[in-house]
This record gives sequence, C-alpha cells and structure tokens, in this order.
Amino acid sequence: MTKSDVIATPLSPNISRLRAAADAARANAWCPYSHYPVGGALETLDGQVFVGCNVENASYPAGTCAERVALGTAVAAGARRFMRVVITSAAHQPTPPCGICRQALVEFAPDLEVIAISPQGQTARWSLAELLPAPFTPASLENA
Ligand code: THU
Repeated sequence: MTKSDVIATPLSPNISRLRAAADAARANAWCPYSHYPVGGALETLDGQVFVGCNVENASYPAGTCAERVALGTAVAAGARRFMRVVITSAAHQPTPPCGICRQALVEFAPDLEVIAISPQGQTARWSLAELLPAPFTPASLENA
C-alpha cells in the first residue's frame, strides 16, 4: 500500500454502516494464535450485508480469513453478486486482503471495491482488479 491509497475524508453513511458490521464481526474473531482479529462486511449489489471474522485453528493452515467467511456465508444464503467489502483490523495502517481471499472474491466479483479501515479511521480503497491484476477465473478453465 502506498500513502496515496490512504484517504482521510469522512466515511459515507453506507461505509460507516459496513465498518460497524465488520467491527461487530471482528469482536467474535477466533484468533488465539495470531492475536490479530479481522472483520469483514461484504455488500451485495442490492444492499444486503454479510459479515465474517477470521476463524483460526490449532492446525494452523485450517484457519480461515474474515473475507472468506463473509463470502461463504453470503453464498450459502444465495447471494452471488457483490459491490464492495469493508475490512477492519487493529492495524494502524489499513491492510488489503491476502492473496487467497483475493482469489476467492474474484470468482464472484471481479469489479469488487475493497475498502480497509484502521481503528483510527484511516481508509484505503482499491479495486479487486488492481489487487489481483491477472486472475484465474472460471473462464480460465474453458481454455483447457
Ligand atoms: N486475516 C484475515 O482474516 N484477513 C486478512 O485480510 C488478512 C489476514 C487473518 C488470518 C489470520 O487469522 C490472521 O489474520 C493473521 O494473519
């Protein structure tokens, strides 16, 4: 992330709502190994919000990120088209989603807006296309 990715302007009411939803989910994070709770709020094109937190495991690789928990919850509820995701953590700098989450999200939302917000309200925005410029997509399978 560069400094220019970080925005200091006030959050819109909708982004504030998503931040609050992500923070509420973050309060439920199960992260006894990293001590790094993360919350995510995924908004559908029609304004529904699905949340997730990271869920770690004593077998470390079995742990899951907040973004993929939110995505799985949304898909299980029948949602498939997404507008944006808001991610919150305790990091002073807003942090983008990990590579696995970028891949998981691009399956459903190549044009997703990705917003990360620090506890101090520092906000960074990216497009998923910018974060994952050469994605492997369902169309990639058709080239086999
Ligand atoms: N984590 C997330 O949930 N989302 C991210 O965007 C980055 C990392 C989690 C995974 C792990 O439980 C902890 O944060 C430390 O990596």
